[in-house]
Amino acid sequence: MMHKATAAHVGIIMDGNGRWAQQRGLARAQGHTEGLKAAKRIVKAAADLGVQFLTLYVFSTENWKRAADEVGPIMALLKQHLRAELDFYRENNLRIRHAGDAGGLPPDIQSELAGAIEDTKGFSGMQVVLAINYGGRNEIARAVRRLFAAEAAQRAAQGGGGGFSEGDIARFLDNPDVPDPDLIIRSAGEFRTSNFMLWQSAYSEYYVSQKFWPDWDRADLEAALESFSGRARPFGGARAG
Ligand code: FPP
Repeated sequence: MMHKATAAHVGIIMDGNGRWAQQRGLARAQGHTEGLKAAKRIVKAAADLGVQFLTLYVFSTENWKRAADEVGPIMALLKQHLRAELDFYRENNLRIRHAGDAGGLPPDIQSELAGAIEDTKGFSGMQVVLAINYGGRNEIARAVRRLFAAEAAQRAAQGGGGGFSEGDIARFLDNPDVPDPDLIIRSAGEFRTSNFMLWQSAYSEYYVSQKFWPDWDRADLEAALESFSGRARPFGGARAG
């Protein structure tokens, strides 16, 4: 019998909150409130289904371009989630991580995030990476800056100057110990990466769902994982058989 591959790391581009709200004549912010509920359903389902790392694209480095009456409520939602809903992570033994430029977040969000990471760092279940003020290009640029700061002087002193390898850059990404995503899911039907995990997604499988994010439930995640489990992944090599 063929072994069914499981996705150890799943990334999700949670798209369609705004359209979900607009279709109902609601403010876009209401779509994000429902989007957070969907995220909690899917975090729980992913942990139950044996996913080990789940990266959620919560807020991109480009999302600041949105109107203040949308960005404000998203930040308020995030703050309240990180402050008042940590029991959800505790009860499910979930560890919170962050990807993105923390220093570019409002100070109150930075401190809630740091607190949530600290409070859950001992939990051994699924790791939930919240990508907040995240951009793939931004992450790579920050990694290169950190790499350069850490090693340029040392290399120059050694007289090597042999340049940096892929592995060198990977070591300075936001969560270098987290394996590359096996599967990246996007809701709401668009076929693009929107700057999500550019480095890490080199060999990720993609799954695009037509459903808006607030409508997502466990069955949708199961369908995505089922689709993934049937795929051949030659990673650039020749296909077996
Ligand atoms: C995209 O929908 C979604 C976002 C900009 C992110 C908001 C995400 C949440 C509130 C969930 C947070 C989850 C956790 C666990 C903190 P969109 O507004 O781009 O939709 P549209 O394309 O239909 O306009």
